[in-house]
Amino acid sequence: MERGDEHGPIEPHPVIAGFYARRAHHKTFVRGLFNDTAPYYDGINRLFSLGSGAWYRRRCLLRAGLGPGLRVVDVAVGTGLLAREAVAITGDRRGVIGVDLSEAMLAVARSKLDIPLIQGVAEGLPLAEGVADFVTMGYALRHVSDLVATFREFYRILRPGGTVLLLEIGRPGKRLSRAVAAAYLGRVVPFLCGLANGDVHTRALMRYHWETIENCVAPQAILEAMRIGGFKEPRCETELDLFRSYIARKS
Ligand SMILES: C[S@@+](CC[C@H](N)C(=O)[O-])C[C@H]1O[C@@H](n2cnc3c(N)ncnc32)[C@H](O)[C@@H]1O
Repeated sequence: MERGDEHGPIEPHPVIAGFYARRAHHKTFVRGLFNDTAPYYDGINRLFSLGSGAWYRRRCLLRAGLGPGLRVVDVAVGTGLLAREAVAITGDRRGVIGVDLSEAMLAVARSKLDIPLIQGVAEGLPLAEGVADFVTMGYALRHVSDLVATFREFYRILRPGGTVLLLEIGRPGKRLSRAVAAAYLGRVVPFLCGLANGDVHTRALMRYHWETIENCVAPQAILEAMRIGGFKEPRCETELDLFRSYIARKS
């Protein structure tokens, strides 16, 4: 089954052969991949975003309406790159909670950020109903096993009127931008990561990163999953034919 709710889950991409063999192995594979690459993640991110990462994350949060005093749950917090910008805006480090599947990513986040950090998965969040004014997730949509279960959880932990903001890299629509992205993200970045770290896992991470972008469902399917998850009027904004923000409010 491919569609959500009574129609079944919506998976962000099919099984990616060469990385894991079956859907049942997906979560273990993703957790292992991020555990193996956690010490290198921030360096990779600097290389990959050409230094614009913090600025871009902050701008997206502000544009979505994040402000002082709001309570944030940052799902798939990773090493804390998005959460750090959220704390800078809200001004309350205890009011930003990070959740992640990978214990090694959480350990790096813990070494840099003094915020509550919890190990857990997006599809079944270990948090109470209505605890968040804002739910964010940066660059992890492609890694969950079911978009519908994930968005239902986001909806559940948001208070009425709360906002969800998802940042993602999307498969470019135009042929030229796709060719440039495929060359840069699919070849140059994995090569540079291998060169910079001498680590096979980081090269695999970046190859996997591009495979999931190439094979990800279309924005319409993501918006549909958000609607099934409970959000009434989700929207997707695209910049440079590559960077996507999905935004919705809980009515
Ligand atoms: C590409 S990193 C993004 C980290 C951070 N959000 C950022 O903006 O840099 C993806 C993160 O998603 C986490 N992750 C993957 N699948 C997850 C899931 N199902 N639930 C929670 N976290 C997950 C990984 O462990 C990893 O830390």
